Amino acid sequence: MRHLIDPMDLSVEEIDEILDLADDIILDKEKYQEVCKHRKLATLFFEPSTRTRLSFEAAMMELGGNVLGFSSASSSSASKGESVADTIRVVGCYADIIAMRHPKEGAPFVASEYSPVPIINAGDGGHNHPTQTLTDLLTIRREKGRLNKLTVGFCGDLKFGRTVHSLIKALSRYDDIEYIMISPEELQIPEYIKKDVFEKKNIPYSEVRTMEEVMPKLDILYMTRVQRERFFNEADYIRLKDSFILNTEKLKTAKEDLTILHPLPRVNEISVKVDNDPRACYFRQALNGKFVRMALIMKLLGVNV
Ligand code: CP
Repeated sequence: MRHLIDPMDLSVEEIDEILDLADDIILDKEKYQEVCKHRKLATLFFEPSTRTRLSFEAAMMELGGNVLGFSSASSSSASKGESVADTIRVVGCYADIIAMRHPKEGAPFVASEYSPVPIINAGDGGHNHPTQTLTDLLTIRREKGRLNKLTVGFCGDLKFGRTVHSLIKALSRYDDIEYIMISPEELQIPEYIKKDVFEKKNIPYSEVRTMEEVMPKLDILYMTRVQRERFFNEADYIRLKDSFILNTEKLKTAKEDLTILHPLPRVNEISVKVDNDPRACYFRQALNGKFVRMALIMKLLGVNV
């Protein structure tokens, strides 16, 4: 039985397999519409979500399976004090696979220790979000045709941004990626990512404080939201929330084939006027999330066509 807790749980070859399968699902959806008939996905979301939960549910439905679950801790018995371990043991009696989001880092790993069925980490605190990473990799590969030889700018909340941490780890296995970190000092990339990923693998990276100074170099601009829910102090959030706002003016110096990504939700870090720019890929990215989750469910359930 396989779980997906950290993006590095999958080898590069397995990631290629999942992305290839997602591409095939996009080309021929009918072929897959009954492959998970009589299988059940449980979505256990102890933290809010729109894209991840609903794309998982849509993914299972499009594979012919069924879904059950809860969308907040308050509507589950966690509110009565039930532990993650007990919840998982019980839900494992009702479902064949579980996607779980939790505000506590490591909670999906704990779940995987007790689960009788595969666990998918759908986001744990500021730590990891491996299915967003699969979504991002599929989108980059579909937009750029490759996952190497890219200059990638990560912009915004790089401290708490689990999508950023997961994507950096995943990309570190591909060749010739130049990493540019664009953030205020207070929200810079954590030391453990610098040490465990960049320094360990001798990967060069740079840190800058404005997006304007690097915009002409970028192949990918990965925007993120400053996450109010991760701050201990509202004053700090207010001070930092508008640090970076991408608008049409700032895009004037960007490459014509720049790919603008954002895991969403957006607050105001990308002006809505940018949405009409063909380089804005974030809604296509959200759609890709459903197809890559279909492929992942199939892989973890051992379903072949
Ligand atoms: N990208 C992402 O995780 O979005 P949700 O929080 O809406 O699931």
